[in-house]
Amino acid sequence: MTDHALAQCAAPPANLYTARVESVRHYTDALFAFTCERPAGLRFRSGEFVMIGLVAGERPLLRAYSIASPAWDDVLTFYSIKAPNGPLTSRLQNIKPGDEILIGRKPTGTLVLDALTQGRRLFLISTGTGVAPFASLIRDPETYQRFARVILTHTCRTDRELDFSREAVGAAQRDPLVGEAACAQLRTLTSLTRANHPLTGRITTLIESGVAFTALGEPQLDQAHDRVMICGSAPMLRDVKALISQAGFQEGSNHEPGAFVVERAFAS
Ligand code: A2P
Repeated sequence: MTDHALAQCAAPPANLYTARVESVRHYTDALFAFTCERPAGLRFRSGEFVMIGLVAGERPLLRAYSIASPAWDDVLTFYSIKAPNGPLTSRLQNIKPGDEILIGRKPTGTLVLDALTQGRRLFLISTGTGVAPFASLIRDPETYQRFARVILTHTCRTDRELDFSREAVGAAQRDPLVGEAACAQLRTLTSLTRANHPLTGRITTLIESGVAFTALGEPQLDQAHDRVMICGSAPMLRDVKALISQAGFQEGSNHEPGAFVVERAFAS
């Protein structure tokens, strides 16, 4: 049985929706994104993640994925790595328009505006596929209502790995709902660690040295006015979290909003 057929072979368990895939885009040998219809009744806040997957044999094979489209959209977008031996992504990378995927009924997560106290600037700091929840937030009008400035940082190894965020920023700027706000309030900073680019180096290095702020033409981080969301690999979260904790930022949660929130970019 092909992976393509696997996606469609059995009735979904009661705690899952099925949704039809609408489009698939392969960015690199290791990265792809897809859109699917939004199940009627699926509610989420921009920045949240949800379990998604395929039926493999008798059982659903599920992983957590950030939703990369905003809460108001009628399609869902997901951005994924293709792990050669990943139980789900090795299959998911073969999906085609018309296939069905499984979607959990309970989106959740901490990269939500509700988990942050009021501030003036919002920093969305990401590496790799960690940019996915921020692709959602930069198309949500509430982001621009709550923050005067929104600064998205995305660091990858090579140039083509930035294509997804380039498109997400372009989509936000052209969006009839948030385009005007995004053009006026959203700034982006991209850097590469293993190829040439106007800015090179890890985001931690660029923040510590102040180069990130010089490049943006923005003042240094200030916990009185800035709020931060962080999404990337576990080591990246650890290091960025340590850096901004040293600067006096307190971590927030859904129950107790604070100055920064973190979430691991899920993948396997
Ligand atoms: P580097 O090339 O120096 O490892 P990954 O695919 O491993 O998640 O990496 C995505 C991006 O995140 C890469 O540019 C990588 O830089 C960077 N990165 C990896 N670990 C950290 C870390 N601990 N702190 C900041 N950036 C990191």
